Amino acid sequence: MKLLVMFFRILLLLVFVSLSGCQMGDSSQMSKSQHRQMQSSFESMQKSYKTTLEKFKQDSASMPDEMKTLYLQMQKMHQQMAENHKHMMSGQRKKGMGMNQGDKQMKKRRQMRRHMQNRMSQEWYSQMQSMHQQMARRHEQMNHPERARQHRQMGDGYGKMKNMVPENNQSSNEPINENADPSLLNGANLYTQNCASCHGQNAQGLGIAFPPLLNSKWITGDKSVPVRIIRDGLSGEIQVNGNTYNGSMPSFKARLSTAEIAAIINYLRDRSNGDYSQITQDDVIKISNTYQNRNEPWQPEELLE
Ligand code: HEC
Repeated sequence: MKLLVMFFRILLLLVFVSLSGCQMGDSSQMSKSQHRQMQSSFESMQKSYKTTLEKFKQDSASMPDEMKTLYLQMQKMHQQMAENHKHMMSGQRKKGMGMNQGDKQMKKRRQMRRHMQNRMSQEWYSQMQSMHQQMARRHEQMNHPERARQHRQMGDGYGKMKNMVPENNQSSNEPINENADPSLLNGANLYTQNCASCHGQNAQGLGIAFPPLLNSKWITGDKSVPVRIIRDGLSGEIQVNGNTYNGSMPSFKARLSTAEIAAIINYLRDRSNGDYSQITQDDVIKISNTYQNRNEPWQPEELLE
């Protein structure tokens, strides 16, 4: 009898493992085991985050303002992530819940979970990763090797989480507002939602880690340059308005539609000093098609060619 039970347990396990294996390959939905893995990574990242924040609070008084801003950004992003994860992880059927009882609620939660999962795309974790890499670099420069190490570790942790999320090709195939006229979209809002956490509320940049976007030749120059940066990201040493930066900017390909990319660039070009032509959605589509096979961040040299 015992043997039989064991046999069935193993069988069940095998079925489960093979099922979750299939899901990994072709579906943008996460399997239960992927969810579990994600959740435990998330919890350990939250722990590191709390320790890092505690340490910072202890002597934040002696830190430069720029560092305080970076920590504030980090807090904002972590809070947002905690909120998203809460929704993303709900929707698993609770033990003992009847089949009909709570079904509607379940459905709603599942929809929410799917929505959050789409939002918590690979790009999101890339952002967290580069955010912590920037902070590590800054701490290194300030001669805080221990803190630099912690941030580097967190950056690596997010890099791993990024690889746990199924690649979300769906959203790049059917982006939101794809047919919208860029001039009807609100460039300022789109900027705040997508770019301000790193480049500052007024696009003036943030300390030595995040370059300004106003009056930047990377925005005002050849149309293809900002489009390619926003679509695929950028990594390597660059000069902006006389200062040197060396970080990495995440890709927004899966998150912004061509119309939205145009609206953000136009918003930044409008606010820069000078007369720069507007970018149309067609421009963005043409440029995107030309570089559609690109799937890594641009190196600055490639954009200056
Ligand atoms: C997670 C942080 C982060 C987010 C979010 C982000 N960027 Fe960046 N961005 C960077 C970093 C870091 C660099 C510098 C890259 C380097 O040194 O090579 C950069 C560089 C750039 C550059 C080239 C340099 C310059 O200052 O002109 C442009 C253009 C740019 N970003 C536009 C955007 C736009 C538009 C958005 C929103 C859609 C955005 N970025 C969102 C981090 C970010």
